[in-house]
Amino acid sequence: MAPPQSPPRHPAPPQRPFVLGIETSCDETAAAVVAADRSILSNVILSQTALHAVHGGVVPEIAARAHLDHIDRIVTQALEQASLSLNDLDAVAATVGPGLIGGLIVGAMTGKAIALAAGLPFIAVNHLEGHALSARLAPGVAYPYLLLLVSGGHCQLLVVEGLGTYHRLGGTIDDAAGEAFDKTAKLLGLGYPGGPALERSAVTGDPRRFALPQPLVGRPGCDFSFSGLKTAVRQLVERLGSDATARDVADISAAFQAAVAAVLVDRTRHALAMADERGLRPTALVVAGGVAANQLIRRRLTELAAAHGLALAAPPPALCTDNAAMIAWAGLEHFRAGHVDRLDVAARPRWPLDPRVA
Ligand code: KG4
Ligand code: ZN
Repeated sequence: MAPPQSPPRHPAPPQRPFVLGIETSCDETAAAVVAADRSILSNVILSQTALHAVHGGVVPEIAARAHLDHIDRIVTQALEQASLSLNDLDAVAATVGPGLIGGLIVGAMTGKAIALAAGLPFIAVNHLEGHALSARLAPGVAYPYLLLLVSGGHCQLLVVEGLGTYHRLGGTIDDAAGEAFDKTAKLLGLGYPGGPALERSAVTGDPRRFALPQPLVGRPGCDFSFSGLKTAVRQLVERLGSDATARDVADISAAFQAAVAAVLVDRTRHALAMADERGLRPTALVVAGGVAANQLIRRRLTELAAAHGLALAAPPPALCTDNAAMIAWAGLEHFRAGHVDRLDVAARPRWPLDPRVA
């Protein structure tokens, strides 16, 4: 007799609702479809890096035009890769702020037009909320949690109490962490975008050779400052002048990265204590935003979280930098909670997560 055969294993079908997300707030044109069971059915990202690299940073006008040129094709690809048509969707979400206004308008108008044509609800998503909730695309991250949001434009510590309730404990008083990476990489001639380039340069560097400041470390509260660190690197680069070797650049990169990691850990440690004093009991430490892709920073924060009996939840690096899966997921959480927006909702270049701290 033939041995009993185990039935063929089919992955469980993704669960509705299915939400299309659109992201155009900076220099990525992105569209994605996610499902309620957290499966990412598609995640298409077109980076404009090459267009902006010659200018050393994002040029808003060029970004807006490029979003307009490509958004239709990127949305079509996201639907094709998810093997869905517009009729299969349950809602459309688009980033409407904060960010560069030209790009925001392109993404918001595209999302609204699709929602109107397909008779679907539209959800206006805050880009920062996309980052804030991105860790919940993996199972097991429950509210409330402490969030370190570190990107090119933002650097803040918040308690995410629940969907739509964000309590800001501190933020940067000058540059964002990603901005500091970008400016320092430029000083070191490492090109744009600076964060990944500087991380690569630091791999072979000795972080102890140059002493760099760690602004605000040990001070009360959990605000950040990075401009002094950047200035110290500039002075170092000026001192070395044209004699600087590849080894010097690697050592400065390693020292800079270690200093940023030390600042982020110290400020986050203070934030954990502040949350505790206020009776807010986080279930996890979450790090999100482009800088969360940095491996040294992830390691240091994992150690910090463990010392507090918490796990570090960090999205995979591809979901740390700008993407539309996180926008679709934030939209999905709002849709499930019954929050939908009118089609006359405006794009907002500024939109703080905690309205008490504008
Ligand atoms: O979240 P994001 O893609 O865009 C914003 O919303 O700002 O973050 C981009 C920022 C840039 O400043 C970039 O240099 C930084 O994140 N970044 C990194 C790394 N990857 C991206 N910084 C440090 N290490 C990385 N591996
Ligand atoms: Zn971002």
